[in-house]
Amino acid sequence: MEFTEVIRKRESVRDFEDRPVPENILKMVLEAARLAPSASNRQPWKFIVVRDALKRQELARSAGGQHHIAEAPVVIAAVALMPEYLMSNGVPSYPIDIGIAVDHMALAAADQGLGTCWIGTFDQQEVRKILGVPSAYRVVILLPLGFPRSGHGPKSRKSLNQIVCYETFKDDLDLTIPSGF
Ligand SMILES: Cc1cc2nc3c(=O)[nH]c(=O)nc-3n(C[C@H](O)[C@H](O)[C@H](O)COP(=O)(O)O)c2cc1C
Repeated sequence: MEFTEVIRKRESVRDFEDRPVPENILKMVLEAARLAPSASNRQPWKFIVVRDALKRQELARSAGGQHHIAEAPVVIAAVALMPEYLMSNGVPSYPIDIGIAVDHMALAAADQGLGTCWIGTFDQQEVRKILGVPSAYRVVILLPLGFPRSGHGPKSRKSLNQIVCYETFKDDLDLTIPSGF
């Protein structure tokens, strides 16, 4: 698929077919995470592949009952191994590092005709317990992965004019959320 088409095709999938993800495609998706950049190339992450149905149900429960987590044949949990690390600009690098790696996976999955959905709404302690993640680390995102049952059409996004300014910051803050969320 053309790169721009992959970007357009990627959307949040919350309805998955009941069919497994082929091993070679799963590997391709994980390889996309492996190649992601990270601050100082620390690669401070671990990706837990969850296929066990019972565990996926437990994860869904810990995410306020988001059923698509249990229904997707695979859930990838992205874990930050250095959640305390700050860059010299004072910004923690882990949400950025993990965000890039997870987006690589979401785009690689879309390229292969698979669907994903970023999941940030879950109970940290419960998910740690389900997956055996030590308390020094932080589970950042769950990513259900599978074949989409249906697509949901055009994207609802702000215009470029609303989000881009040139040379200096333009303080015309528009926090309106576009319809369709
Ligand atoms: C950091 C992050 C956390 C998110 N958490 C959830 C979530 O817990 N449950 C869910 O259904 N969607 C979640 N989403 C998906 C967003 O709602 C979705 O990306 C957004 O509405 C835009 O739609 P699109 O992904 O189809 O383009 C999350 C997305 C991001 C980037």
